Amino acid sequence: MPKIIHTVAEWRALRAGFRASRQAVGFVPTMGALHPGHGSLLVRAKQDCPVVLASVFVNPTQFDDKWDYENYPRMLDTDCDLMDRSGVDYVLAPSAAEMYPNGTRYLVGETQFSRELCGAHRPGHFDGVLTVVMKLLQIADAERAYFGEKDQQQLQLIKGMCTAFFLPTEIVPCPTIREADGLAMSSRNARLSPAERALAPTFNRVLRSAPDATQARAQLEAAGFVVDYVEDREGIRYGAVRLGKTRLIDNVAS
Ligand code: PAJ
Repeated sequence: MPKIIHTVAEWRALRAGFRASRQAVGFVPTMGALHPGHGSLLVRAKQDCPVVLASVFVNPTQFDDKWDYENYPRMLDTDCDLMDRSGVDYVLAPSAAEMYPNGTRYLVGETQFSRELCGAHRPGHFDGVLTVVMKLLQIADAERAYFGEKDQQQLQLIKGMCTAFFLPTEIVPCPTIREADGLAMSSRNARLSPAERALAPTFNRVLRSAPDATQARAQLEAAGFVVDYVEDREGIRYGAVRLGKTRLIDNVAS
């Protein structure tokens, strides 16, 4: 089983040892409620690096919806089983006080792309993501960090932040893992009712098959989705839809 660490100081001491023994560290940040999508990042990290650190932290600053934050699944014990099977060595599971010692006085932000697509529908979301990822990357001090293409906008913004702030960690993008019917794996899929779950794969099917973004939106609305956006940019079609209380995001090559 991986060793669970709760404080920055504990990891720092271990990290110093790995630097002395020249063992590279691979880092996979998560919010827990792990599924095979996360598993693919963990396995990839273990292929590349002798030491793998994963983090489990439900980051309050990236939730614009209190209900969503409070109802985000928390299941560290179950998560540790998948971590174990994927070769994770250490799990950083800090408290909110450990991560935010000065509350939200200090924040990292981005002023353009973070305001578009998901950012236009979730004000402040990406500032919260970038802030916590900046903290986590500084804490982990890893050679490489692994992020999923499922959250393509997040991935682009994190890569941009690392370039802008000269962070030394290499950001490694990992492909989206899907259910057999094409639905991108997500911790939120568990919230779908049976009828919503049956409709959900249509989201990816329409993103892939519609000739343009306008027609994709029309087809999704006709099928019963509430569409936040569908947009084509720089060879990628991005989409976000809602089914009842559940929000789904996906992206495909366009
Ligand atoms: P979370 O949603 O737990 O996702 C953790 C990582 O797993 C992210 O890099 C995400 O893109 C990746 N991931 C999720 N579903 C995936 C799938 N189906 N296939 C491949 N990769 C997948 O993303 C976050 O947490 C947070 O915003 C975080 C970066 C941890 C900051 O709080």
